Amino acid sequence: MRYELPEELMRTDRSNALKPVKIGILGLGTVGGGTVNVLTRNAGEIARRAGRHIEIGAACARDLGRKRSCDTSGFRLVSDPFALVEDPDIDVVVELIGGVSPAKELILNAIEHHKHVVTANKALVAIHGNELFDAAQRQGVVVAFEAAVAGGISIIKAIREGLAGNRIESLAGIINGTGNYILTSMRDQGTTFAGALAEAQKLGYAEEDPTFDIEGIDAAHKLTILAAIAFGIPLQFDRVYTEGISGITIDDIRQAEELGYRVKHLGIAKRNGELIELRVHPTLIPYRRLIANVDGIMNAVLVNGDAVGPTLHYGAGAGADPTASSVVADIVDVVRALTTDPNNRVPHLAFQADAISHIPVAHPDEFETAYFLSMEAIDRPGVLAEVTRIFGELNISIEAILQKEPVATQRAHVIILTQRTREKNMNEALRKLEQLDSILGRVNRIRVEHLSYSAHDA
Ligand code: HSE
Repeated sequence: MRYELPEELMRTDRSNALKPVKIGILGLGTVGGGTVNVLTRNAGEIARRAGRHIEIGAACARDLGRKRSCDTSGFRLVSDPFALVEDPDIDVVVELIGGVSPAKELILNAIEHHKHVVTANKALVAIHGNELFDAAQRQGVVVAFEAAVAGGISIIKAIREGLAGNRIESLAGIINGTGNYILTSMRDQGTTFAGALAEAQKLGYAEEDPTFDIEGIDAAHKLTILAAIAFGIPLQFDRVYTEGISGITIDDIRQAEELGYRVKHLGIAKRNGELIELRVHPTLIPYRRLIANVDGIMNAVLVNGDAVGPTLHYGAGAGADPTASSVVADIVDVVRALTTDPNNRVPHLAFQADAISHIPVAHPDEFETAYFLSMEAIDRPGVLAEVTRIFGELNISIEAILQKEPVATQRAHVIILTQRTREKNMNEALRKLEQLDSILGRVNRIRVEHLSYSAHDA
C-alpha cells in the first residue's frame, strides 16, 4: 500500500524521487492495527518528515480470517512470519507480536538479513536485549524500541538524546497503565480490583497474561530498559526487585489519602552510593507531587539529572494509537537513517525543507477559547440582565456567574465564566460591556483552557 502526498506537495517533494521504504509488520493485534491506522491516516505528514514514502509491503497475522481494527486491503497479508522477515522486498521489520519466542528468532533473522528492526517488545528487550543489540551492531543495523516503554511517551529518546549531557541520578515512573488504571478506579470509584482489571482488559490495555501487569513484571521489564539507558548498565531484568499491586486494598488507599499520600505503583532506579537500586513496588507519594496526580492509564516518568534537575515525562502508556505513535516515530528514524542523502537526516524543523507547508497563522480575532471575566458593577436591579443580554446577542454561552455581595459600597463584583467562543465576539462583548453605565471601569479578561485532551486523563 502506498500513501500519496497531497497534490501541492507532490510537485516539489523530494520524497517522490526516492524509492519508497517498504515495511513488514509482524502482528496485527492492538498495536499492529494501531500502527497500520496511524501510518495510513498520517501518511502525508509522515512522508514530509521522513523524506520518503513509507509503504506497508506485507503484514503477518496468526489468523488471516479474523476481523481487524485496520484496513488490510492495501498490502499482502501473510501467515509465515519467517518468510516475511526474509522477503527481499521488505526493508524494515516491525515486530509487534510480543513475547519472547518466536519474536526473538524473528528479530535475529531480520538482523542476519541486514534489516533494521522496530519493536514494541519490552519483555524481549529486557531479557534478551544485550544479545539482540550485539547482533545488530555486528550487522550494522538498528533495533529501535521506543514503544517498549511507556507507550506514547518518547522517554527513550528523551533520556538517550535530550538528557545526554546529564549524569542521571534517579528515575521513578508509573510505567504500567493497567496497574495505574486499577489503582485509580479503586480510589475514585471504589471499584473492586477484579472489576477494574476486567475493564482495563476490555479496553485493550492489559497484557495477554494479566499477571504481568498486576504483579509488576511488565513494569520490571520497562524499568530494566530505562535503567540501562539512564546509567549505561547492561539490561538485567533478573536483578529487579518486583512487587505487584494485587495485595493493595481500598482501605490502604483510603488510609494513605488521610495521611496526605496517594498509592502508586512505581518503577524506581536510582544511585545509592556505588550501587544502583532497581525496584518495582506500590509506593506512597505525597499527593501534591505532580506524579501522584497521574491517573487512569496515563504513564509518567520522573527523571532526575544532575544538570537539568527533575523532569517529568507524561502521556498515554498503553493503547493502540499511543503505542503506534512511538512505533511510527521509530520507523521514521530508521527511514531517515536509510536515506543516504545527508539532507534527509533529522531536518532542522522536523519536516523536510521542501515539504514545509504554508498553513496560514490565525489572526487573534479568530482564536477560540473560553474566558474568565471580572468587572465592577453598580448594585441595582437589571444590571445582570443587561450584561447577559450582550452575551446572548453575540451568541456567547455563559458557563457560570458569580456576584460578590457589595460590602459598604454600592458596587458589586461580578465574575463570569464563558464557554468557548471566537475572540472577535469577546472583543465586541467587552466593548459593549464597558459602554454600559452600570459597568465601572475596564472588564478584566483571562482566557481559560481546559486542556483535557483525553477521556482517559482523569
Ligand atoms: N500492559 C501494558 C500496560 C501495556 O498496561 O502498561 C503497555 O506496555
